[in-house]
Amino acid sequence: MSTTPQASAPVRTYSPLARTLHWVTVVLVALQVPVGVWMVYRGNTLNLWDKLTGALYNGHKLVGVTILVLVLWRLAYRFARGAPPDEPTLEPWQRLASHANHWGLYLLLIAVPVAGYVGVSLYPALDIFGLFKLPAVVAPDKAAASTVFAVHGVLALLLVALVAVHVAAALYHHLVRKDNVLARMIPRLRR
Ligand code: HEM
Ligand code: HEM
Repeated sequence: MSTTPQASAPVRTYSPLARTLHWVTVVLVALQVPVGVWMVYRGNTLNLWDKLTGALYNGHKLVGVTILVLVLWRLAYRFARGAPPDEPTLEPWQRLASHANHWGLYLLLIAVPVAGYVGVSLYPALDIFGLFKLPAVVAPDKAAASTVFAVHGVLALLLVALVAVHVAAALYHHLVRKDNVLARMIPRLRR
């Protein structure tokens, strides 16, 4: 056995499943937000209810429900298996801020699609590409639908703000602090 001391502690990365769920969710959310804004602009602002607008709405509902399922899967796995211990060089305030950011992200990754789903149940607009209907979770009520859609839009904005802080922090750790935080989600970046 070698007695040479380790230059640094081994980097504890997220498991392959946790990383896959993280990056698939990232891609889907990165699609979902611009599609949501674009379809509302075409439909509500331009009053353009053509095939493209319809496809954007259908795609948004389908991807939104997929995100919800993936996040519930990710959370169940997270509670069952936990996460790797924090990067050892983090200051206490950085640990606190990163945990608050992560749990805020999880909360919004559930609240945003749930609000969208409740909204389409209230409207009701549950059909997806004429292929199948999402099961309604509440009885129709058009007036309530517009309130819930407004809440959905505001929560989605909040999600974008938390993601911006999250990405800025990941880049700060990698490019400025030069630690191994980003390597926890992208192991080949290990230093
Ligand atoms: C993480 C998942 C989701 C994100 C990030 C997201 C994001 C957005 C955004 C940014 C808008 C545009 C808001 C605006 O410009 O006013 C929007 C609108 C909308 N979303 Fe989502 N959404 C998600 C999930 C869902 C789900 C699951 C459904 C339904 C099954 C849904 C249904 C809708 C509908 C119907 C609108 C149009 C509302 C209106 O006419 O004001 N969304 N969404
Ligand atoms: C839609 C965009 C994103 C969402 C919703 C998101 C969500 C999350 C969540 C919820 C966690 C906590 C994982 C856990 O402990 O269970 C996390 C961790 C992480 N994410 Fe993201 N993420 C996004 C984009 C990104 C991007 C673009 C990067 C890289 C530039 C990134 C890098 C990381 C890293 C390095 C961690 C681990 C941090 C640590 O353990 O201290 N994320 N992400």
